[in-house]
Amino acid sequence: MGRIILTGDRPTGRLHLGHYVGSLRNRVLLQDEGNYDRMFVFIADVQALTDNADNPEKVRQNIIEVALDYLSCGLDPSKVTLFIQSQVPELHEMTQFFSNLVTVQRLQRNPTVKAEMAMRGFHEGAENDNQRGIPVGFFTYPISQAADICAFKSTTVPVGDDQEPMIEQCREIVRSFNATYGPVLVEPEILLPSNLVCRRLPGTDGKAKMSKSLGNCIYLSDDPKEMERKVKSMFTDPGHLRVEDPGKVEGNTVFTYLDAFCEDADFAAWWPDYTCLDEVKDHYRRGGLGDMKCKKFLINVLNDRLAPIRARRHAYEQDIPAVYDILKKGSEAARAVAAATLHEMKDAMKINYFDDAALIAEQAAKYRSL
Ligand code: TRP
Repeated sequence: MGRIILTGDRPTGRLHLGHYVGSLRNRVLLQDEGNYDRMFVFIADVQALTDNADNPEKVRQNIIEVALDYLSCGLDPSKVTLFIQSQVPELHEMTQFFSNLVTVQRLQRNPTVKAEMAMRGFHEGAENDNQRGIPVGFFTYPISQAADICAFKSTTVPVGDDQEPMIEQCREIVRSFNATYGPVLVEPEILLPSNLVCRRLPGTDGKAKMSKSLGNCIYLSDDPKEMERKVKSMFTDPGHLRVEDPGKVEGNTVFTYLDAFCEDADFAAWWPDYTCLDEVKDHYRRGGLGDMKCKKFLINVLNDRLAPIRARRHAYEQDIPAVYDILKKGSEAARAVAAATLHEMKDAMKINYFDDAALIAEQAAKYRSL
């Protein structure tokens, strides 16, 4: 069995630097290493609708944004199958079969879903004007996510650490399906970014996570001015009032971003007073190094990383119909794979009745009058 890589994102907004260091950058590396049989990256619009049922327009608008973000980061449609979840209806059939293998109690233990429900104000037992109940589709999205993964017999799922409970749940579903019906599905493995700071990049305000709802994001599609403005207002060390004061590096967002983005070569290019980030950190801790100098360096580093992304985005933006066409072709290709897996699953479940000559013969023999 070869290596099959699959991952995706909900189209609820443009992708930001947290997505980039947490997953996108890694995907492009995986793509270019070429150590896989097949690689799929998809736009999870059905999952996005599980908590945006009343706002399909938001999802509709963001499909192209996410596709542009993918392509601009360097995902190459000749190497990676890019597709839209809703265009592969086989996934929903699989979801239905999987949902019989999962208990309500098991779903209730999923810590990511719990946290998301709290954030969205979905309350258990609440069905009145002040409190929103839990949409069934939202509650069960880990099952649908297992179908996304299993349909392609994915072995490797590069995602952030908040997705760990989903992968674990998927593995349980695979084990349960295979034990019940026969060995059809493959247990996937999660692939986390090796650099710890990249697993959960804080927002520009220093809060634990970069997130659209917190308004603390730097988007891949921000222009240089917007990015610069956001970096300049970034949270640093509130105790570092004067340049001479000793400063803290831990919990200082500028340094967290530098940990995530900068390389030694950046110093020769933009800040030749130092040769590596450790030297800058030492100086900052001793005192005598101002926040603005660090921020200017970060702006240079980010501009350098983002320049090729911006250029590719601009080029793709000039031919949006071609981008939809990439997604359409990818969706057709993905659908063929998912359909083959679904057929195998149904064979194992013995519910491909019309292909089942033995079943038909058996029933015929049972009822044929003597
Ligand atoms: N839940 C993922 C997110 O919120 C998106 C997603 C849906 C996904 N299906 C997936 C990721 C399958 C990896 C594999 O970002």
